[in-house]
Amino acid sequence: MITTTQLSQFAIDTMEGLRKPQKTMMSKYFYDAKGDGIFQQIMAMPEYYLTRSEMEIFQHQKDEIFSQVCPKGLPFNLIELGAGDGSKTKVLLKHFLKMGIDFTYYPVDISQNILKELVAMLKEEIPELDVRPLHMDYFEALKHMEQFTGRKNVTMFLGSNIGNFSEERLEEFLIKLQGYFKPNDKLLLGVDLKKDPDIILNAYNDKPGITASFNMNLLDRMNNELGADFDLHGFKHYAMYEPVTGEARSYLVSLKEQVVRLDELDFEVAFETGECIHTEISKKYSVSRLKELSEKCGFVTSKNFYDTKDYYVNTMWEVL
Ligand code: AVJ
Repeated sequence: MITTTQLSQFAIDTMEGLRKPQKTMMSKYFYDAKGDGIFQQIMAMPEYYLTRSEMEIFQHQKDEIFSQVCPKGLPFNLIELGAGDGSKTKVLLKHFLKMGIDFTYYPVDISQNILKELVAMLKEEIPELDVRPLHMDYFEALKHMEQFTGRKNVTMFLGSNIGNFSEERLEEFLIKLQGYFKPNDKLLLGVDLKKDPDIILNAYNDKPGITASFNMNLLDRMNNELGADFDLHGFKHYAMYEPVTGEARSYLVSLKEQVVRLDELDFEVAFETGECIHTEISKKYSVSRLKELSEKCGFVTSKNFYDTKDYYVNTMWEVL
């Protein structure tokens, strides 16, 4: 029988992920309107130190960051991958404008919802800023960057968003990005560093269960968008940290033997007790590994900015 139903990319990726021997879901699907809201709660919780570390770096070192970004005062495009609600980036945006530089801000995000919030916030707080939102994922953004040829480009990938890539995928991504780089272009990465594993694990396993509800929202999303019948009590959030690879990993573990039906996909998936869906990697790096990574991908590190606890680094890369 020929079916003519047009499946969404979410539907296609879900089916593919749940059919694998080790079931997976792509972490980009966390960010629907509800997921965006839960992620904002995560950023506000004391356990999730990443947000405060990066905020502190921006607030205390914005002058040095500016002089690295824009040493010659040339106008530029500012492309931010995974911009989110812009609560930290706005510190830099305000500062760059104050320095009297001509730039256009291109926030890229997978969530249409958060892009709207971001644009509304910027219109209110920085009305003079030229903002052009791009609703797409990182790989589409990379393709889109072919078009950014005229001006100097400054690309930002903040909030430890690169942690969601596996090492191989990240290298592939950075090498492609490097291919578009001109000599004055810059890359500013925000990266969570390896540290006391208990501090890291706590950030992904908070006692009040905010991160748990962020992870569980994927099940809700499948129920709502794909007509699935996931029993939310039949699964639990499980997070672990592996100090050798630096990977914080999140799973949804089935607490019983069960079959879930996804009506829109006309698809059933069986879970054994204890079987899990791998939902996220949030990889942590060492400073030396980051330097190796920059070199392997054709960049040089021009400067590292640390918070006072050395939990986190904003690393500035360029090509020669
Ligand atoms: C937005 C991808 C950087 O991996 O730390 C927070 C998302 N997941 N808590 C991260 C997240 C669980 C976050 N990133």
